[in-house]
Amino acid sequence: MDLLIPDKVHDESRQGEALLLEPVVGKNNGRKLYIESYGCAMNFSDSEIVASILADSGFETTSDFNNADVVFINTCSIRENAEVRVRNRLKEFAGAKSKNPGMVVGVLGCMAERLKAKFLEEEKLVDVVVGPDAYRDLPNLIEQVDGGQRAVNVLLSREETYADISPVRLNSNGINAFVSIMRGCDNMCSFCVVPFTRGRERSRDAVSIVAECTDLFNQGYREVTLLGQNVDSYKWSGQLADSSEQLAVGDEVKIVNFANLLEMVALVNPDLRVRFSTSHPKDITDEVLYTIAKYDNICNYIHLPVQSGNSRVLELMNRTYDRDWYINRIDAIRRIIPECAISTDMITGFCTETDEEHNDSVSMMDYVKYDFAYMFKYSERPGTLAAKRYADDIPEVVKQARLAEIVAKQQQYSFYRMQARLGRVEKVLIEGFSKKSNNDYCGRSDQNAMVIFPVTEGYKPGQYANVLVERTTSATLIGRIV
Ligand code: SAH
Ligand code: SF4
Ligand code: F3S
Repeated sequence: MDLLIPDKVHDESRQGEALLLEPVVGKNNGRKLYIESYGCAMNFSDSEIVASILADSGFETTSDFNNADVVFINTCSIRENAEVRVRNRLKEFAGAKSKNPGMVVGVLGCMAERLKAKFLEEEKLVDVVVGPDAYRDLPNLIEQVDGGQRAVNVLLSREETYADISPVRLNSNGINAFVSIMRGCDNMCSFCVVPFTRGRERSRDAVSIVAECTDLFNQGYREVTLLGQNVDSYKWSGQLADSSEQLAVGDEVKIVNFANLLEMVALVNPDLRVRFSTSHPKDITDEVLYTIAKYDNICNYIHLPVQSGNSRVLELMNRTYDRDWYINRIDAIRRIIPECAISTDMITGFCTETDEEHNDSVSMMDYVKYDFAYMFKYSERPGTLAAKRYADDIPEVVKQARLAEIVAKQQQYSFYRMQARLGRVEKVLIEGFSKKSNNDYCGRSDQNAMVIFPVTEGYKPGQYANVLVERTTSATLIGRIV
């Protein structure tokens, strides 16, 4: 196997959420692969699976698409503007392809599923379209394109979890890694395309998850984030014993739920931090909360998207909980894990939302005082339940004004949460130099706040440091190692 020398990653090509591929080790077939990812962590994690599958068939990777033989864009469909960005990027790739006609351009991920016909027939920008469950087929599909055909595989699977594939870590700092624990989603929130783009929910083999986390720890990684669209509905059954014990007759088949899985991963090593995303308010159990409280290395941070603070809107959204239920879950978190940071996702201007109903979202923010929030204007997605059933009737200016209001409110609460940490000592996992200066390190606190502090002798990235917080902004804690 040849060890490939890393190319430089060019800053100007880091567009928004795009992630560029670092060269990896592989049996060389003389061809270069470039991959760029958009959307959620799940997509970034999938790109690492794609890189692994193609490294096995000999693709070397590059961070410059102009000299790539295969250019992949791993796409997101969640809101209209996500799709617009991808289309613009594809036009840039088409420009490169016109200079290099042998270049294979492919669309992967969630847009592939939604727009396969459009990509292949109308736009002619794309040679290959591959959905999130068909990545094992990529080497064959590339061969088809080499043979002069266009190639498509957007079949969704009920079983595929890529459990046996050891992801190639892309753009990695060697400290934090994503670990996929499930795929798809069965929830059918009325605004959401994910059940259509990623298919049915399925949980990955718990033994393979623990093995991957153990392997990461042994390679020097110190933080794993377990990924799924609804991690609280994780459920897998099988034998937990190692292979020699599995031969024993009558070995017990165990059911592993999310709380059990969290515990299994926490036990890999006390120095391995465990995070997870996303929790669903309808499914997060007290058992999960007690497990978080029990283990120091399971981070005190929960992303619990509310979407709306109003029960009628939540019902239209098909979230299957109401305002009181959500508040009950928040209260349980505060009771069982008093130090827990909480973040959320919020949508403004969903179909028929009135000013009073919007005010319920605002008052939810006052109640929880979230540490952090991702906030969006409702964007109607073709094919979803909401698109079929309800008119997208809130004017753009109203959606925008409501969004501006909650963004301003969140800014206040983020600052408030940061201020509450002043004078406290945070345990920080050092991730590297801060963006602004090589004299400072950055890393995250247990509660997921970004912490900046001067480089101090004896401390390196990948180690933990106790940092006294002396100043804050609304997004960062600033201090020094004590
Ligand atoms: N599985 C996660 C969400 C994944 S999508 C969960 O259930 O919480 C990430 C976020 O995008 C959602 O939480 C929602 O706030 C937002 N989102 C999804 N569809 C949207 C749409 N059509 N318009 C605006 N925001 C949307
Ligand atoms: Fe979409 Fe709802 Fe599934 Fe989240 S839980 S991915 S919002 S359908
Ligand atoms: Fe986007 Fe697909 Fe994730 S639609 S948010 S990349 S699951």
